[in-house]
Formats: sequence, structure tokens, C-alpha cells
Amino acid sequence: MSVLPTSHPPSEVESAVPNGRAAALLEAGLGLAPTGDAVNAFVAQCRHRAAGLGVSEDAYYDLLAAGGSSARSEWIAMSPALTVGETFLFRDAGLWKLMERRLLQSIAGLTQPVWLWSAGCSTGEEAYTLAIVAQRALGGTPFCVLGTDINPNAVAAARVGVYTPWSLRGVDANRVDELVVSGTQTLRVRDDVKKLVRFEVHNLLDEQAYPPAGMASFECIVCRNVLIYMTPAARAAVIERLAASLAPGGVLVLGHGEAQGIPVEPLIVERHDAGVVYRKPLPAQVSKPPRPERPASVRRIGVRDTDRSRAASFGHRATKAAQSRAAQTAAAVTGLDPCHRLLALAAQQARVGNTETAERKAALASAANPLAPEPYVLLAALYAARDAFTSAEAALRRALFLDPACIPALWQLGILYRLTNRNRQAAVTLARLLARLDGLPAEHVALPFDQLTVQELQTLLRAALEQQRD
Ligand SMILES: C[S@@+](CC[C@H](N)C(=O)[O-])C[C@H]1O[C@@H](n2cnc3c(N)ncnc32)[C@H](O)[C@@H]1O
Repeated sequence: MSVLPTSHPPSEVESAVPNGRAAALLEAGLGLAPTGDAVNAFVAQCRHRAAGLGVSEDAYYDLLAAGGSSARSEWIAMSPALTVGETFLFRDAGLWKLMERRLLQSIAGLTQPVWLWSAGCSTGEEAYTLAIVAQRALGGTPFCVLGTDINPNAVAAARVGVYTPWSLRGVDANRVDELVVSGTQTLRVRDDVKKLVRFEVHNLLDEQAYPPAGMASFECIVCRNVLIYMTPAARAAVIERLAASLAPGGVLVLGHGEAQGIPVEPLIVERHDAGVVYRKPLPAQVSKPPRPERPASVRRIGVRDTDRSRAASFGHRATKAAQSRAAQTAAAVTGLDPCHRLLALAAQQARVGNTETAERKAALASAANPLAPEPYVLLAALYAARDAFTSAEAALRRALFLDPACIPALWQLGILYRLTNRNRQAAVTLARLLARLDGLPAEHVALPFDQLTVQELQTLLRAALEQQRD
């Protein structure tokens, strides 16, 4: 991609006098350093977008300056013309060797699955390289990769995961078959790698866009050749947010010299032959993972008791029906895999009101299969039952990362939004779930922990959505 606009003749661009307002906006929206070319390209884009929207250029600048969701969409729409997307697989071989031999191993024991983020991934080569290297370095340790970029066209291409041999320049020809499936005219990322990587549009400069994909923390963040185009102030803002998104013990990998002159505290600088990386210190004493706290910041105004009791169904006192269901569960758990056996026992404990035991067993279920979404859903329900909404949401984001169509996770997220007074998001999530249920057999079990059928859940959803409209 070029920093020069293609939709306007050069004479017209040259006549656009770079002005202070355009330069300031360009830095605020995308962090880009206001070079002559960049400002010209931006001014031309603004003219083009303003004409498309049927508003004056001044009004368009006002829209960008106002911020909010319209401005956010505009920055994303303009980004393909303003950013540089140059990338390739295994770019900077020395760094990937360091990743494979040292860095990924150093984070392998922090949590399971290990969460990796390629920020500013362009068409996905870096995110897939990260997955390929992590597969080698982490052995059997489960992991997930998030790839993000502001450019929606690049993200769409990344999701396809098909490249030309140009993307493999510099890679040893003998290794190519090991990395990708060769077609006649293209190279395709292997399915086992592809399923470990998810892509989302995300503007690193947009404060509202954090946490990316709702993921509270990552053990490793790679953000290379992105900050190089930004002003020092924008670099500092992005580094601060990336540092905040790192888990303790996690590592931030930037491009060579991209943090030069920028404060990186509280990260610790680690110097390796292949380059400098930044690590978030572990707390002085790490014992077992802390039980999530009841967040003080979440207001509970307007939460109705009916909502609370429905959402917090795992925290209830034992009823006769629950006890009899528990007996049935005990009989049914034999024959399940370890994760689902533990999960069934956790759900059984939750139903009879032993929430602490249930949480412990659900955490064990998650440890038995860290890539299964269901334990996160049960944990979220248990957290929500004790008003630990932030932890509940983090757990649900993980479940939905692992399976974006997970019915129990969507239900729980919709209910969580209602509990925290985010009614619009609740309505959207519940409507999405209703659409997801469309066409499924009525007697099919939709919420396994509660043995709720598709038909029953549809009834609940329609009622919840109607209430929301009222
Ligand atoms: C030169 S590419 C680098 C790709 C990859 N990281 C690599 O090193 O091969 C820079 C990428 O950063 C993205 N980018 C630029 N500004 C961004 C922003 N504010 N938020 C997210 N991505 C951004 C661009 O769209 C582009 O795809």
C-alpha cells in the first residue's frame, strides 16, 4: 500500500495546502507523523469521504474531531489509503529464532491457553508466523493467536490465509511445504495453524477499542513496523496501552528501534542478540491464581431481582429438583473426557449451591482442556453470581474467542450486559443468539448446564428482547 492517494490526480493533491488542523487530526486518529505526503494523502481522503457523505470538508473535519463511533468508522475506512501494509512470512528470521528458542518458552508456564497478539498484522503473515513458531516452541501447551489491524481489507485477506510465493521471500525453500500447503498458484496456511488464529479490525490509537476482541491480557504481544510511522507521542500512547494489555511475566516485541526515546515503564528491557524485548514483571510473590475480586467500579443501579436470579442461577440454594438432577449427572459423568467430567461435576456442585467447589472444579476442567469454551462459560456464570462482573466478562470473551458461536456463552454475555446496564449491547447479543438458534431442532439442548432446549431458550430470548423494547 502507498501513502500517496490514488483517487486524485497529483496536481490536485499538490494544491491541497497541508494545514495544521489536518496534521493534528491525522496524529490524533491514526498516530501518523504528519509528513507532507501523509498530510496530502489525508486531505485528499477527507475530500473524497466528505463528497461521498454529501457534507463539506469542514463538516467532515468536525466529524473526525468530535470522535465517537462515526469518526471511528471513518478512520478505519480511510486507513487503507493512509497506511503501509508491507509484510511477509517469517520477516526478520533472527527474531523468530529468538521467539522459538527463548521467548515463547519463557511464557509457556504462565497460563493455559497462552494468548498471543499480533498487533498491526496487515494481511496476517506475522500472526500466522507467530502460530507456526508457537506450535514448535510450545509443544503441547495450548495457545491462541489474535491478529489485528486497522485496515479492514487487510484483515479480510488475513482471514482467507492464502498467499503468493512473494509472501515467503527469504524462507528456505526446503521448509516451505512444512509451513504451508502449496496450491497451483497460491500457498495456503495449513488448517491446523489457521484454526489457532483469529483476526479483528482494531485501531491501536483508539482508546475505546481496548481490550482488543475483549481479551483482557496476553502473554505475548508482537507489534512490529507499525510504530515506525507514528509520532513519538502516538508511539508512547500505544506502548502504554500494549503494556497494560500484557499479563505479568508476558513479553512485548516491537520492531528495531521503535521504542527509542519512549518510556516503557513498568516494563523491563531485555537485550538479546536478535534485538530488545520488553517484559512485564511478575508480582513479587505469585501463589495460586487469585480468586477474582468483587469489582468496586461496577454500579448495580437498575439491576432487577428477576434478572439477577436468572443470571445467577448457579449460586442458588439446593432445591429438590436440583438434587435429583445432580444424582442424574453423577450417573452420566462416567464415560466423559476429563474436562467434561470435571465440568459436569462443577455444574452439579453449582446447582446445589456449592459455588466455591464448583469454581474449583470448573477451573480444573479448564486446565484439563484449555481450548474448551464451556468451562469459561460456567466460570463466568459463577463469577456473575457473586457480582464479579469484570472477571465474568473476561471469561466469556475467552469462551467466545474459542468458539464465537458458543450458545451458552452468548446467552451468558447477553445476561451480563443486562446486569451491568448495557442494554443496547444486551439486545444486540440476545438478538444474535436468537438468530443463531434459528433452524436448530426445537428439542436440541441449547444450554447444557441447565438442560434447556432450543425451544425453551427461544421463548426466554423473545421475552427478554420484548422487555428490552419496553
Ligand atoms: C508495515 S505493516 C507491518 C505488518 C507486520 N507487523 C510486519 O511487521 O510484517 C504496518 C501495519 O500497521 C497497520 N497500522 C497502522 N496504523 C495502525 C493503527 N493505528 N492501528 C492498527 N494498525 C495500524 C497498517 O494497516 C499496516 O497493516
